[in-house]
Amino acid sequence: MSTVSAPRRPQRVKAKFFVPFAIALLFILLVFAVAIYSVERRVRDQDLAERSAAVAKLFAQKLDKDTNLMLAAMRALMTNQAMEGALRAGDRQQLAAQAGDLFQRLRREHRITHFYLTSPALINILRLHSPDKHGDHIARVTLDRAQARQLAVHGLELGSMGTLTLRLVMPWQGAGGLAGYVEIGEEIEHLIDEISQSLAVDLVVLVDKHYLQEAQWQRGQTLMQRQGDWARFTSHAALAQTTAALPAALDERRLAGLLAGGTTEIRDGERALHLALVPLDDIAGRRIGHLVVMRDISALASTVRWSLLAVLGVSLLAAAGVLGVFYLALERVERDYRRQHDLEHQLLHLDTEHRRILQIEKLSALGTMVGGIAHQLNNPLVGVVNLAQLAEREADVPVRVRELLGEIRSAGADCRAFVKRMLVFSKVSSFEGKPTEMAALIEETVLLFRQAESRHLPVTIDLEEVAAVITVDPVLIRHALFNLLLNAAQATDGDGEIRITLRREDDPERGLPGWTLAVTDHGRGMAPAVLEKVFVPFFTTRSDGTGLGLPVVQHVVLLHNGQITAHSEPGRGTRIAIWLPGTLPATPSTERENA
Ligand SMILES: Nc1ncnc2c1ncn2[C@@H]1O[C@H](COP(=O)(O)OP(=O)(O)O)[C@@H](O)[C@H]1O
Ligand SMILES: [Mg+2]
Repeated sequence: MSTVSAPRRPQRVKAKFFVPFAIALLFILLVFAVAIYSVERRVRDQDLAERSAAVAKLFAQKLDKDTNLMLAAMRALMTNQAMEGALRAGDRQQLAAQAGDLFQRLRREHRITHFYLTSPALINILRLHSPDKHGDHIARVTLDRAQARQLAVHGLELGSMGTLTLRLVMPWQGAGGLAGYVEIGEEIEHLIDEISQSLAVDLVVLVDKHYLQEAQWQRGQTLMQRQGDWARFTSHAALAQTTAALPAALDERRLAGLLAGGTTEIRDGERALHLALVPLDDIAGRRIGHLVVMRDISALASTVRWSLLAVLGVSLLAAAGVLGVFYLALERVERDYRRQHDLEHQLLHLDTEHRRILQIEKLSALGTMVGGIAHQLNNPLVGVVNLAQLAEREADVPVRVRELLGEIRSAGADCRAFVKRMLVFSKVSSFEGKPTEMAALIEETVLLFRQAESRHLPVTIDLEEVAAVITVDPVLIRHALFNLLLNAAQATDGDGEIRITLRREDDPERGLPGWTLAVTDHGRGMAPAVLEKVFVPFFTTRSDGTGLGLPVVQHVVLLHNGQITAHSEPGRGTRIAIWLPGTLPATPSTERENA
């Protein structure tokens, strides 16, 4: 028996597809999340850049507007003849009396914090905002330029005490020539408050320490009751800010990043702030500091966070749904797969079982065969032994001994006949085919059969119009036909007719051309249980049968690459048909009857 390996266990279909699918889905979600995050960053960066540009522009516009207001105030002042005279004369008392009210009004209404009256030689006559200090030479870019050009000059300037002031200096040209210079200025802290409000950003004014001296700065802080921060950064001092205090997270490192041209993000209590710098240049074109623009992105960040969470949540739900459906589908596939596998396994098992049964059957057939042979030989041998004993006992009666010897010989002959039949059966496997005229073959066999069969039953031969010449082994076919005739005769009580037919017929299964040779009788027929076993070697229902007739016929037919079929009805008769392959006949033939 050949061995067949068991089919492999079905692999885990789910694991094979589900895990990569889930990973792919998660990867897509991740990419999605990263995309949303980067879009949010871009939006934020763009917003900060736009706001920083707006801060710079609004700052410049506000400086312009304030300059115009200061110019208007200055022009109004210069219509005062008495004051012109006092300036020319360097009369501090008179000047203070004339300009005191105006300065108070300007301070109140226009946040003018500085008011200087200076001689043509740039010696200070009166500081209305600080009347005790005078007589010093003032060296400042605005004043120098006004003197050089004899025109009004304005611009942003850093004061010695760390004040960032918008200054306007105007030469007072009267009927008697240059009377002196008038200078007004405003500190610009209020501007950053206004800008902060209109652009919804917070601002910090940073001043480069190159242009400051710590002692002076500290004096200014005390004098003007300021809360500037000198120590936070090594390079810059924080002059003012729109928040209550400098954000603690804005440190040296972050400032360095900002100064290098980047943006940064910090947390300030509850708020998330996004920071960038806007440069501050003074009238001389020096970069004296920066405005730190701080955009509160808490709302944006939380919106993005929520929308990210919502999108991820919905995507995860959708993914879970898809995965669920996929999982179910895979489960079904796996179930089918497993069922098929089990089925295959069962089939394999059945096949193995079948082979085992076949093996057992073969063994039992062998047993039956040996039993049959033993039985066939035993009967005559028992006879021989008995007859020999009898002969011994009657040795003195020669006639009787001769008689008994005759019977012994006949029993021996029976044995030899049986052995001969066995030999025929064993020889059947040698096959010598040659084109054979079937009509002649059939007739010869019938003749032979008549000699062997004592009852002289009628045998009819029914052939086609055309003569059948088929390539067969005539000895084997004759033997097979003989066997069929013998069986038919043995099954027929009385004088029922036996009919031999030869018909052109294609093999219904293979479609090959061929001939069907059939022997039909009207004898006892067979019960289905008998019919089933007629081709099993040594199966017989007759006491003197060998059970080899039909197996030999089947063997012969198979050697001819033909087929054998048996039809039978109990009480009505039997038809055994053998189909043999063969091409078309050449000459016609006739039907005849032998009685
Ligand atoms: N034409 C037939 N009509 C009825 N029974 C038949 C016929 N041919 C064969 N059989 C049955 O088949 C059995 C087997 O036949 P066979 O193989 O020729 O062996 P045997 O003739 O030695 O019994 C017979 O014993 C008989 O029962
Ligand atoms: Mg027989």
